Amino acid sequence: MSYLASETRYDSMTYKRTGSSGLKLPLISLGFWYNFGGLDSFENGRAMARRAFDLGVTHFDLANNYGPPPGSAEETLGQLMKKDFHPYRDELIISTKAGYDMWPGPYGEWGSRKYMLASLDQSLKRMGLEYVDIFYSHRPDPETPMEETMSALDTAVRQGKALYVGISSYSPEQTQEAAQILRQLGTPCLIHQPSYNMFDRWVENGLLDVLDQEGIGAIVFSPLAQGQLTDRYLNGIPQGARATKTERVWLTKEDVNRNLGKIRKLNALAQKRGQKLSQMALAWVLRKPQVTSALIGASSVAQLDDNLAALNNPAFSADELNQIEAILKE
Ligand SMILES: NC(=O)c1ccc[n+]([C@@H]2O[C@H](COP(=O)([O-])OP(=O)(O)OC[C@H]3O[C@@H](n4cnc5c(N)ncnc54)[C@H](OP(=O)(O)O)[C@@H]3O)[C@@H](O)[C@H]2O)c1
Repeated sequence: MSYLASETRYDSMTYKRTGSSGLKLPLISLGFWYNFGGLDSFENGRAMARRAFDLGVTHFDLANNYGPPPGSAEETLGQLMKKDFHPYRDELIISTKAGYDMWPGPYGEWGSRKYMLASLDQSLKRMGLEYVDIFYSHRPDPETPMEETMSALDTAVRQGKALYVGISSYSPEQTQEAAQILRQLGTPCLIHQPSYNMFDRWVENGLLDVLDQEGIGAIVFSPLAQGQLTDRYLNGIPQGARATKTERVWLTKEDVNRNLGKIRKLNALAQKRGQKLSQMALAWVLRKPQVTSALIGASSVAQLDDNLAALNNPAFSADELNQIEAILKE
C-alpha cells in the first residue's frame, strides 16, 4: 500500500542541535544494523521505518556493511526510498559509513582514500541516492595517516556526495586530531558516533569533554546495550532475540546472564519511575548535554513505540541517578 506520512509527524518529537552545527537531529534515531538486511522481513522493516517517520524520527543510520549479507540494509533503504520515502527525501537525514570489511583485497576496509570514496559510491548506488546527509569513518585506522582519511571525507562533501561528515569510535585524542584536520580542510566534523549505555561508559572518560570543546555532537549507539536494558531478557532468553543470533555474534547469552542481576534491579527502579527499563535507559543516555540523539535498533513496531515513549519522562532526580550508580557498581 502506498505511504502517506502522518500529518502529525512533527508534533511529539524534540529536535536537538548537533554540536555547534546548523543541523538538528531527533532525540531518538533509528539504526539499520539489524532487522533490515536481506535475510530479514522487508515488510517488518518497512513498517518500522514508516512508524518511526510518522513519529518524527527523521534520521535513519546505515553503514556499507549492514545486512546480512553486507550491503543489503542499504539495498533495503533504497527500496524504502523508492516505494515510500521518495517524496520525503528533504525531510530525512540518511547516514552511511565506511571502515569495516566490505570487499576482498587490500582496498576493501579501514581508512584509505581509495576505500572510503569507492565505498561511498557503492553505498549511493545501493541506496539509489544522489547524496547522503552524513558520511562517517566507521573506525579509526591505525595504519593510514589521519590526514588521508579526513581528506577523503572532505572530498566526499566537495563532490556533493555527502553534506556532513562524522567519525565513529575514535578515542578522545584521535577525535581531537580528526577535528583539527577537518577544520583546516574547511569541512567541520559534525558528529561522533560512539557506543554508550549503562554497561558501557567509555565516553565519560574524556570523549564527551572533547566533543564539548570541539562543538561536535554525539549520536550514541546501542543505548539499550543491544536489548539487555529492556524487558527482553527478564524471563529467560527468547527464541529469535539478538543474544541467540549466530550470523553475527555481538551479544551472547553469557553477556546477558552476567548482567541479569543488575538488569532486574534497574527494571524495578524503572517501574518505580512509571517507566519501562528501555525508556529509562534511553532517558539516561539523553541526560548528557553532549548527546544529541540516542541511536536505537528495534525488531518490531511495538518496540519502537515503547522506545519513543521514553521522551515522556526524561528527567531524573539526584536520588534516582545515585540508585542507578549503586546498582551498576554492584
Ligand atoms: N558505529 C558503530 O560502530 C555502530 C555499532 C553498532 C551499532 N551502531 C548503530 O546503532 C544502531 C543501534 O544499535 P543496536 O541495535 O545495538 O541498539 P540497541 O537499541 O541497544 O538494541 C536494539 C535491540 O534491542 C532490542 N530492543 C529494542 N527495543 C526494545 C524494547 N522496547 N523492548 C525489548 N527489546 C528491545 C531489540 O533486540 P531483539 O532483536 O532481541 O528484539 C533490538 O534489536 C544500529 O542499528 C546502528 O545504526 C553503530
